[in-house]
Amino acid sequence: MVRLHHLTVLLPFTTALSRDDEAPTAKRVAIIGAGASGSSAAYHLALYANEAAIPANITVFERNSYIGGRTTTVNVWENPSFPVELGGSIFVEVNHIMVEAAKRFGLSPASHNLAAQLELPDLGVWNGQEFVLVTRQEDGWWDKAKLLWKYGAAPLWTNRLMKSAVGKFLTMYDEPVFPWKSLSEAVEKVGLLETTGVTGEQFLKANGIGDLFAQEIIQASTRVNYASNLGYIHGLETMVCMATKGAMQIKGGNWQIFASMVNASSATPHLNTTVSTISKQQDSTYHLTLQSGETSTFDEVILAAPLQYTDLTISPAPKHTPDEIPYMKLYTTLFASPHLLDPVAFNLAPGSPVPQYILTTLPPTESPVDNAGSPGFYSISIHNVFPNSHSTPPRLNYVYKIFSPARIDSSFLSKIFGREISDSETEQGAVNGTISWIHHKIWHSYPREYPRVTFEEVVLDEGLWYTSGMESFISTMETSALSGKNVARLVRDGWIGARESEKGGDLWVEEL
Ligand SMILES: Cc1cc2nc3c(=O)[nH]c(=O)nc-3n(C[C@H](O)[C@H](O)[C@H](O)COP(=O)(O)OP(=O)(O)OC[C@H]3O[C@@H](n4cnc5c(N)ncnc54)[C@H](O)[C@@H]3O)c2cc1C
Ligand SMILES: *[C@@H]1O[C@H](CO)[C@@H](O)[C@H](O)[C@H]1NC(C)=O
Ligand SMILES: *[C@@H]1O[C@H](CO)[C@@H](O)[C@H](O)[C@H]1NC(C)=O
Ligand SMILES: *[C@@H]1O[C@H](CO)[C@@H](O)[C@H](O)[C@H]1NC(C)=O
Ligand SMILES: *[C@@H]1O[C@H](CO)[C@@H](O)[C@H](O)[C@H]1NC(C)=O
Repeated sequence: MVRLHHLTVLLPFTTALSRDDEAPTAKRVAIIGAGASGSSAAYHLALYANEAAIPANITVFERNSYIGGRTTTVNVWENPSFPVELGGSIFVEVNHIMVEAAKRFGLSPASHNLAAQLELPDLGVWNGQEFVLVTRQEDGWWDKAKLLWKYGAAPLWTNRLMKSAVGKFLTMYDEPVFPWKSLSEAVEKVGLLETTGVTGEQFLKANGIGDLFAQEIIQASTRVNYASNLGYIHGLETMVCMATKGAMQIKGGNWQIFASMVNASSATPHLNTTVSTISKQQDSTYHLTLQSGETSTFDEVILAAPLQYTDLTISPAPKHTPDEIPYMKLYTTLFASPHLLDPVAFNLAPGSPVPQYILTTLPPTESPVDNAGSPGFYSISIHNVFPNSHSTPPRLNYVYKIFSPARIDSSFLSKIFGREISDSETEQGAVNGTISWIHHKIWHSYPREYPRVTFEEVVLDEGLWYTSGMESFISTMETSALSGKNVARLVRDGWIGARESEKGGDLWVEEL
């Protein structure tokens, strides 16, 4: 004990303790990307730093002119009263970070029962030849589907499987799994490797889920959520698609959750700002150079975007460089029209209603493919009804969203509406026309969720952190936000660890 006491006498000569009398300098943190993961990292790091009384100066760099990344809205007729989700649109009850943030920031869920208002069946599963299922229930479509005699006990078993997978996933929110330095180890620890390591098809077969239910319901769901058939998406992401309880979205746009997080973090957001190089210095700090040429210095850098789309140069190469992985190239087409879809295009009798949500699957005769197959698209749905005051006369318009593997062209639109639509209307819309407004967007929406048992590193190098490895495990707004929170906690733990070791001598004295 006396020896330790002597040690504290010596310690003031070290640089660590000589700073004790001065105000501690703020930790400088750069976050690259203001999507779900970067915004959550900023928010949680600010909370953690505050709790630990560690001053932090957080700067968020975002290439786009807005916060939200792949979670963003566009305005129908460029009118801000009519926003529609262009990317991440639905989150669910078990998405704790999203749900709690919405509450904390006073953001309300969008609430409307459009199917009832439209007097349409809410959901149909189309296989390119016929609707194999049409439901009229107003909520929880697949919960209701499980009542259908045609699938036997499959819906019940699927529900149990899903609950078990979600239960395991939720243990990642708390100690001892949280925070994790290695996602691969965390996934193993919570017992989900067997689920991510096989295809949805294999997983369902191994668990005795009948083919009909898998094909007609589960695959319709993996197609609308991840543009994938069951043979090309892993078992866990397949289960995520079945966890639909308490589905919601934020009125006016989910991006507001992330904008509120950045605001609450007091981080300085730099929009329209592309980071072009990250360069590690001798003293372990990082220089970030912007496209503008400006350079600043940081103690920690959080890379909160898939590296392969950042155009970043990291020099010297970090200890771990994330692999380039295949992402889905997804065409998202939003448009407004005063017309409903033509039932004849879906082999229904003239005059029959076409469901509000058209999901798709492959016909039973079609061999499994890693693309949309014969239906040619993943989903077509009506998301809103807005008054078009620009047309003559003004009239109500339906707002549609199509997910497809290729650009939507005039022959496709002409077919589903049963009326001639010109190329120029397909490209730009015509305020009086069948397509009164249209927005085409190509996303690298999410990784192709092929089975895998290892995931990209979280710690790329000392002081250099990466959130996007999470996307190959589960790609959602919530899991990106969780990944950002995980990194924030690791950064905090590093700071506390350093503080404890600097002050180690003093602590002993206090204990004496
Ligand atoms: C069409 C579509 C539908 C979806 N549907 C859902 C859904 O219903 N529910 C759900 O939960 N999820 C959904 N998702 C997925 C969800 O949107 C994403 O998983 C999530 O938003 C990803 O967040 P992120 O922060 O990890 O990445 P991103 O949102 O991609 O954020 C990364 C940010 O980094 C910025 N950036 C990149 N490079 C640089 C640089 N060099 N300098 C500065 N900034 C840079 C980018 O501009 C971007 O804003 C959907 C996605 C798409 C595209
Ligand atoms: C925070 O960091 C930025 C970027 O390095 C710097 O411009 C700013 O002055 C710092 N703010 C404070 C309060 O230290
Ligand atoms: C970013 O750029 C857009 C378009 O180039 C512009 O409208 C916007 O005002 C800019 N935002 C900021 C914060 O500089
Ligand atoms: C931003 O945060 C401040 C407090 O930090 C709060 O007073 C303000 O309402 C917030 N603004 C928005 C737009 O969320
Ligand atoms: C829309 O149609 C009305 C009536 O047919 C016509 O008077 C008006 O000029 C049209 N507007 C545009 C923008 O084409």
